[in-house]
Amino acid sequence: MQTANTLDMLRNNLASLRASSGAGSASPATIGLVPTMGALHEGHLTLVRAARAQCDHVVASIFVNPTQFGPNEDLDAYPRQLAEDSAMLEAEGVALLWAPDAAAMYPDGFASSIRVEGVSEGFCGASRPGHFDGVATVVCKLFNQVQPSHAFFGAKDYQQLAVIRQMARDLDLTAPHVDAIIGVPTVREPDGLAMSSRNRYLSPEQRRQATTLPTAMRAAIAQIEQGDDPSDSLDGLHAALLAGGFDSVDYASLVDARSLQGLTELGGSAARLLVAARIGGTRLIDNMAVG
Ligand code: PAF
Repeated sequence: MQTANTLDMLRNNLASLRASSGAGSASPATIGLVPTMGALHEGHLTLVRAARAQCDHVVASIFVNPTQFGPNEDLDAYPRQLAEDSAMLEAEGVALLWAPDAAAMYPDGFASSIRVEGVSEGFCGASRPGHFDGVATVVCKLFNQVQPSHAFFGAKDYQQLAVIRQMARDLDLTAPHVDAIIGVPTVREPDGLAMSSRNRYLSPEQRRQATTLPTAMRAAIAQIEQGDDPSDSLDGLHAALLAGGFDSVDYASLVDARSLQGLTELGGSAARLLVAARIGGTRLIDNMAVG
């Protein structure tokens, strides 16, 4: 695995990769980009494996993006373990690691920001003002720097995925095209809890209680799919989370899967259930398809 930390190194390494089509075919090599902020876990490795299965070469990026952290969020406390992450990516067959520093990504005088209205505004966007502007801006830069044929994101961060797809659609991006922005299904623990680096902050008792989240979501989805009024099912979900040990529910909403507009009933387009709830000091998010 090559590692690039300047744009020149990245471009040189990408040129070599593009010249070598993995499967020995005459068509240009496909490149799958897996953007990350490091502190890698099984969820990230699942993205890398999905990229390897679909593309000739995988480029992973590690960049702890300061513009997506709010003033009350501790950027300095974000875990940084480049050597360990690098070894994990190499073992998964990543061809190139793009690991710029903040000065390479945001040189002096940098003055642009991408704001994706609507889809970025509610849910996690409401409690983290500016967060999705930072995400959209850095992801657009990563796309332009690497120009991948495909890009891979976890569907667990469903609003992030919706923001990135909306940006790609609105700005007519071609590398990757919006249809090649792949949402990789959430990896779950055997008891159904979505894998997350935040699960490590749960005490054994809280970890046991946290399984209420996927269980109550599945129950609410079954009711909605059977024709129950979604608002009754969402009230039931809220009550089940509190009864199961959660301290509060930030949101539990049935939304259009693309626009994230709230839905009062299932209609023609795909729907999604989005939930964020707190247990002790830990905020867990999850989402599932409905219908
Ligand atoms: O999901 C993440 O790790 C980050 O938000 C991303 C997409 C790498 C942008 O910094």
